[in-house]
Amino acid sequence: MVIWTIANQKGGVGKTTTTVSLGGLLAERGHRVLFIDLDPHASLTYYFGIDSEELEQSAFDILLAGPDVDRETVQGAIQHTKFDNIDVLPATMALATLDRKLGGKSGMGLVLRRALRKLRMDYDYVLIDVPPVLGVLMVNALAACRRVIVPVQCETLALKGLDRMLQTLDLVKVSLRQDHQVTIVPTMYDKRTKASLDAYRQLAKQHGNKVWSGMIPIDTKFRDASAAQTPPSMYMAKARGVIAYTQLLTLLMQKDPL
Ligand SMILES: Nc1ncnc2c1ncn2[C@@H]1O[C@H](COP(=O)(O)OP(=O)(O)OP(=O)(O)O)[C@@H](O)[C@H]1O
Ligand SMILES: [Mg+2]
Repeated sequence: MVIWTIANQKGGVGKTTTTVSLGGLLAERGHRVLFIDLDPHASLTYYFGIDSEELEQSAFDILLAGPDVDRETVQGAIQHTKFDNIDVLPATMALATLDRKLGGKSGMGLVLRRALRKLRMDYDYVLIDVPPVLGVLMVNALAACRRVIVPVQCETLALKGLDRMLQTLDLVKVSLRQDHQVTIVPTMYDKRTKASLDAYRQLAKQHGNKVWSGMIPIDTKFRDASAAQTPPSMYMAKARGVIAYTQLLTLLMQKDPL
């Protein structure tokens, strides 16, 4: 089972879009995919037409159960979707209260990692979408994965958010004794603007081989796919953005073979 966390401490940079795009492509290739939504805003959950407010079980219940969470609780919270090979562990608003509820308790950062061990035989790829804040949700996601995919919007301001994210990874490296592989993914690249090119160059210069050599272009099809509650590759296989995510996936699969 390969586990990827898609994270950046800046909002609106394409985290959820990257998660759904990569996972959709994997599912189409016959891999069993589990999406985990740890964002209290539940964008990924809504993407699949799951009404977060109506849920009886969600990622919240697993985290609340603590490090000794049992397999039934984990499986009970997972929702199937109408798409082959795609399951979702949905988010609810209640996730936002977890830091206050259990931030201080020991072992709380390792709950998701333990829970996923119980699903090892059930999925090939797990993709975790996290909120743009450093807290118990982010720590759980980072403790569960080896690779962090960091989407960065190609504009100067967005590069600052990346620095914060990389600082977080340094902190986590010390506290979890875990060194993540990092793949920085330039997103929303607008080839008509100089700002995009400048941001891309700066990114490549500052972060070198952590930066994927391709880029995800601006593509309105992503918004359309989201409105249609369908992973982009299943909505329009030939869209420019989908082709770019396919290239990114090829690299990621080479780096992290099953
Ligand atoms: N490459 C792209 N081209 C055009 N629009 C995009 C692209 N990637 C994402 N979008 C759109 O930009 C908006 C923000 O993207 P997304 O929700 O993926 O970001 P996010 O980082 O998950 O945001 P948040 O921090 O709010 O969770 C969405 O409406 C999405 O459809
Ligand atoms: Mg999001």
